[in-house]
Amino acid sequence: MEILKAVDLTRIYGEEGNAVKAVDRVNLCINQGEFVVITGKSGSGKSTLLHLLGGVDRMTSGAVIIDGKNISDLKDDELTNFRRKNIGFIYQFYNLIPVLNVRENIILPIALEGVKVDEDYFKEVIKTLNLQKRLRHLPNELSGGQQQRVAIGRAVINHPKIILADEPTGNLDSKNGKKILNMLKYYNKTYGQTVVIVTHDMGEAINLADRVITFADGKIIKDEYRK
Ligand SMILES: Nc1ncnc2c1ncn2[C@@H]1O[C@H](COP(=O)(O)OP(=O)(O)OP(=O)(O)O)[C@@H](O)[C@H]1O
Ligand SMILES: [Mg+2]
Repeated sequence: MEILKAVDLTRIYGEEGNAVKAVDRVNLCINQGEFVVITGKSGSGKSTLLHLLGGVDRMTSGAVIIDGKNISDLKDDELTNFRRKNIGFIYQFYNLIPVLNVRENIILPIALEGVKVDEDYFKEVIKTLNLQKRLRHLPNELSGGQQQRVAIGRAVINHPKIILADEPTGNLDSKNGKKILNMLKYYNKTYGQTVVIVTHDMGEAINLADRVITFADGKIIKDEYRK
């Protein structure tokens, strides 16, 4: 089943004359449960594409359809709500809230919804992420890898259908990077969540991917299934 679709998706930065087409008429269809890796050189438009797919940035033209809903039609507050329910976004630099501790950062999407935390699932998440002993720490009291794991916890706590991760291992050594990728694969396998990872460094990701998309100059130049 189709879960994430881009139709003639385009994002142009800047004014005429020095305009940059960061994403150039991209057509893409991702099925539910796929584990997709998007790779390409620095500046090729990977982050821009991921931000558009996650509704974090607005396209110049074209459309993004998530689980049958055209998000281009949504007003800002509707988009924020829709995103919170359906998308877990892992930012390259974590974007944790500095004044909230680990537990508060992870449950933030639930707190914003005003619903009760499923404590059993919360326990499972912090165990998987090995954060049990750090729940009361603030982000600046954590290592890079721990912050990265908190960002993953926040992205999965709501059971989003789609997890989008921008360079999730970018700031980690290869051992910790591998751990993070395996965790994303675990959520993909265990809960059937669709995972899209952007990385300029294929490394371990290639072994886990169902599908590898190569991006250059705002366009898909290669799209291959691995299995
Ligand atoms: N806010 C912005 N304003 C103007 N140009 C931008 C902006 N953000 C990105 N760009 C340009 O759009 C292009 C694509 O950038 P993007 O960040 O999507 O690339 P990337 O593939 O994620 O690169 P990296 O691997 O270095 O993270 C680049 O040429 C960049 O300079
Ligand atoms: Mg990027």
